[in-house]
Amino acid sequence: MAIRNMQQRPDKDQPASLAFDSQAVHAGNVIDATTGAIRTPIVMANSYRLPDDPSSLDWSDSQTLFYTRNSGHNQLCLERKLAAMERGEEAAVFSTGVAALHSIFFTFLKSGDHVVVSDVTYEAVWRLFNELLPERYGIEATFVDISDLAAVREAVRPNTKLIHAETIANPTTKVADVQAIAKIAHDAGAMVSIDATFTPPPMFRGLEHDADLVVHALTKYINGHGDAMGGAVIGRAELSAV
Ligand SMILES: Cc1ncc(COP(=O)(O)O)c(C=O)c1O
Repeated sequence: MAIRNMQQRPDKDQPASLAFDSQAVHAGNVIDATTGAIRTPIVMANSYRLPDDPSSLDWSDSQTLFYTRNSGHNQLCLERKLAAMERGEEAAVFSTGVAALHSIFFTFLKSGDHVVVSDVTYEAVWRLFNELLPERYGIEATFVDISDLAAVREAVRPNTKLIHAETIANPTTKVADVQAIAKIAHDAGAMVSIDATFTPPPMFRGLEHDADLVVHALTKYINGHGDAMGGAVIGRAELSAV
């Protein structure tokens, strides 16, 4: 038996030709199969119907609807919308911006790795790299003036795995040259993650400037109303399989 829920997954390719404003409305939207509603309703279920024989299901698959912590219909629709708006291949959404940032650091870093971090970031990121990650997990960070490209280059070590910066930093509004930073990182075999919370699309799209991962606190500009919290990471599909 096919999993009927999967037929209702949003089609990520559907809105590519639309203008940005239309895309912001239509990307990730699917007509509700039960009611015919033209706007995707919020699904309150924490679980989804399983096939009669679930033995072939990949329980870690974030694209199959079976348990909402792994993947829920609401999240998938939002992920499709954000991936389309950022022009990324895949997105993953989280309960807050800090949760999204954690997901990057805990997915792509391990003990013994080194990170170059902008000396101006949202406070939680500074605390992660100044306290938790070095003290508990042996991940070292060097904080640099991210607008000084020579300093960024000099801070890179053989074990540098990631350069992390904000496009426009909270709170000083220091601006990062994402493309130049990405070149330094990629020349050293490292990745670049960009917190683009202050520069939502279409203002800026970090992936088009060679960032590997773009993170948003959806709590801020993308939400726009101050009535919800969320976070997202957007990037290439191959990175979502890590
Ligand atoms: C640039 C930036 N990144 C991340 C965050 C964290 O987002 P959240 O509060 O949703 O965890 C904030 C919050 O102010 C922020 O300004």
